[in-house]
Amino acid sequence: MSTQTNSVRKKMTLQQLQAKKQQHMPITMLTAYDYSSALLVDQADMDIILVGDSLAMVMLGMDSTVPITMEEMLHHCRAVARGANHAFLVGDMPFMSYQASVGEAMHNAGRFLKEGNMEAVKLEGGRPMAATIEALTRVGIPVMGHIGLTPQSVTALSGYKVQGKTAVAAHDLLLDALALQNAGCFSIVLEAVPAPIAAAISDRLAIPTLGIGAGAGCDGQVLVYHDLLGLFDKFQPKFVQQYANIGQQILTALQQYRDDVQQGAFPTAAHSYDLPEGEWEQFVKMMGES
Ligand code: KIV
Repeated sequence: MSTQTNSVRKKMTLQQLQAKKQQHMPITMLTAYDYSSALLVDQADMDIILVGDSLAMVMLGMDSTVPITMEEMLHHCRAVARGANHAFLVGDMPFMSYQASVGEAMHNAGRFLKEGNMEAVKLEGGRPMAATIEALTRVGIPVMGHIGLTPQSVTALSGYKVQGKTAVAAHDLLLDALALQNAGCFSIVLEAVPAPIAAAISDRLAIPTLGIGAGAGCDGQVLVYHDLLGLFDKFQPKFVQQYANIGQQILTALQQYRDDVQQGAFPTAAHSYDLPEGEWEQFVKMMGES
C-alpha cells in the first residue's frame, strides 16, 4: 500500500468532478461493496466509488437488483465508507425506496448520508424522477441520475437490452438527461446506450456523464468490481472488460489449502505455537494424575 500517495491525496469533491468534465479529464468510477474492496478501489485512486445495488446480484446472489432492501444497502455503505478516504462516495437507492413519494425519497436518501456515510445518492429514471431529484438537491442531497438501461425496471424493459436505438428513443433519452440536469443532478450514468448517442448527450450536457456500455464519448466510465475482476459467475455483458481472473486465482488457492490440509502439509511448525521451557513435562505429569 502506498501510504505516502494516500497521505497527499485529497478527498474528491463535486467541484473537482465538474472541473474534470470541463478539462476533458475522464472520470473513473467503480463499484465497491465492503471494507476490503473499498480499500483497494480507493488505493487505486478511483474518483468515485459507487455502492451499487448490483450488490444484490454479485454479493448476495439475488436474480436481479429488485429485491434488495434499504437496510441491506446501508449495511454495505457503512462498510465501504470505513475503507475509502479519498474517492467520492455514492450510494445506490434500492427499488421502491424513492418512487412512491417525494417524502419517502427524502427520508431514504437522507439515511444514505446519515447512516450509510455516503456523500450522494444515485437513482434510476428520467423525466418522471425530476421532481424528486429537485426536492433532494434543494435540501442539499447530491444526486447522480441513471438512464438508458435501468436494471430496476428490467421486467418493464423486457430484459437487459440496449436503449435508445431509434432516433425517437435516443431523443427521449436526451430529454431525460436534460430534465435530470435541470433538476440538479451532478452527473448521470448512461447504461447500454449506443456510443454516438451517449457522446451526443455528453456533449450537450454541462454535467459529467458516466458510461457503462455507452462508448468512449462519455465524460467517465463505470464498471462493476466483480465484472472487472472476474468474480461473477452468472453472465458477462458485452461492455465488460475483464482485467483479471481473480475468481480462478481464489479457487486455485482454496484447492491448494484443501489439499495441504488433507495431505498434512499445513500447518507446519512455522504456523504453530510452542510452550515455554518445562511446561510440557509438567502438563504431562498433571495429565497422568487426573
Ligand atoms: O448498481 C450498479 O452497480 C450500477 C452501475 C452498473 C452503474 O448501477
